[in-house]
Amino acid sequence: MSADGKVADYIPELSLMSAELFSLSCQGIDSPLIETGDSGQFFTMQSISKILALSFAIENFGRDNVFRHVGMEASADSFNSLMRIEMTSSKPSNPFMNAGAIAVCSLIYKAYKDGSACRLIAFMKSITGRENGFDERVFASEKRSADRNRALAFFMKSMGLLHGNVEAILDLYFTLCSLRCTSGDLAKIGAMIASGGISIHSGEKILTKETVFTVLGLMSACGLYNESGEFAVRVGLPGKSGVSGGILVSVPGRMGIGVFSPALNAKGNSVAGIKALELLSEKLNLRGL
Ligand code: DON
Repeated sequence: MSADGKVADYIPELSLMSAELFSLSCQGIDSPLIETGDSGQFFTMQSISKILALSFAIENFGRDNVFRHVGMEASADSFNSLMRIEMTSSKPSNPFMNAGAIAVCSLIYKAYKDGSACRLIAFMKSITGRENGFDERVFASEKRSADRNRALAFFMKSMGLLHGNVEAILDLYFTLCSLRCTSGDLAKIGAMIASGGISIHSGEKILTKETVFTVLGLMSACGLYNESGEFAVRVGLPGKSGVSGGILVSVPGRMGIGVFSPALNAKGNSVAGIKALELLSEKLNLRGL
């Protein structure tokens, strides 16, 4: 299956990951973690971290404040597209596209400055129960090759859509993309969302229902970018992908799922990951029908 895809190489360090790796983890909201494959393999969260940034921002600044800077609509454009911002002169379509996530990072950076990354790492730890840090090689590789994200951010600044120190905001964005995780960590985050915002690890209430509904809604509408419609048809569950090959899925009231396989299709989503989720959704009747 993964032979049909290609490991991302526009961030050079990501290309070093073997296309053969695969892991799948399921965390029930009241049952133990079940895993198969290379479940000990760490990878970087990439765009899956946009769930953390968005949840953290809504909890700390309020939903209305966050969505003053970013939209909540799906987009037919690729994840790093610049086109619509120029054509409409308006805020990025949603917080899962790179432009939208950079806007969310600007709000976090404005409030917490250089303490922002630490707060987000602590936020993730409160959900998964462990701290994996971030991958400094992937961070440096992305920072060196981030022409597109740098262009997006400076372009937004020129249009009055982004405020503050652009390089510092981008550093926060790159740090989030470089956060290390396993498919088990993704399953735990998915389960926290599936349980209405309660950490499986500690029982602590992490997110309000309003945040959970917002994140789930956006995962359904735009979690896999311009492949979200097809994912909804094939898998039928809220999900969020990243270019390192991870996909996080949340099955409300039941479980979180993390899957990892680095070979991607042309839209930047894991080929084997989507196939595994399609089979699992069918096998476990996750749509409930
Ligand atoms: O900014 C980027 O391009 C990457 N760090 C993240 C993009 C990404 O994960 C898109 N997901 N499929």
